[in-house]
Amino acid sequence: MALRLGDIAPDFTAETTEGTFSFHQWLGTSWGILFSHPADYTPVCTTELGATSKLKTEFDNRDVKVAAVSVDDIESHRGWVGDINETQKTTVEFPIIADPDRIVATAYDMIHPNADDKATVRSVFIIGPDKKIKLTLTYPASTGRNFQELIRVIDSLQLTAKFRVATPADWKAGDDCIITPAVKDAEAETLFPKGFRKVKPYLRYTPQPDR
Ligand code: BEZ
Repeated sequence: MALRLGDIAPDFTAETTEGTFSFHQWLGTSWGILFSHPADYTPVCTTELGATSKLKTEFDNRDVKVAAVSVDDIESHRGWVGDINETQKTTVEFPIIADPDRIVATAYDMIHPNADDKATVRSVFIIGPDKKIKLTLTYPASTGRNFQELIRVIDSLQLTAKFRVATPADWKAGDDCIITPAVKDAEAETLFPKGFRKVKPYLRYTPQPDR
């Protein structure tokens, strides 16, 4: 059965371009992003891994560890990293997991046979420090992902894990947040000392609490 939000992210041990690791142990107490790409030495994947590499500081600042996976083997990954570095003007420093036996791809349901019976689709799993899955995305091979969007959703996930707020459509860090409906007005006054704007009883905005 497909993994759902709130499920524990399956643990595994695998060979990666940064050495062999046990996934949960490697994550430690950090947040994690595990994302699959269909195949090495392909154009869209090359740009995606380059984009991820260039966001290293953004991920580090948020205490997020990133790992990519495909069903190619470790020698293929090692060779391809050279091409990514050369063409995308970067130095890949995150692990790319070799999954030739499809252990990770199967555990995370990353192969969608009606799309492609051999390669993985473009899956994204965002995992919290409790090892639970907080967000999933699935894109087809033909559509590269927006990695700035991953930063944006990490900001929302980390904020909403800490405060009793939600983030509205198109929210980005620094914008006003929405007070969750379970919080009564009287409680909101204490929880959100910067105040709140009540548009409807169920629609209350407050400045981002930690800014
Ligand atoms: C790509 O990364 O360019 C790609 C991979 C598999 C199928 C189509 C495109």
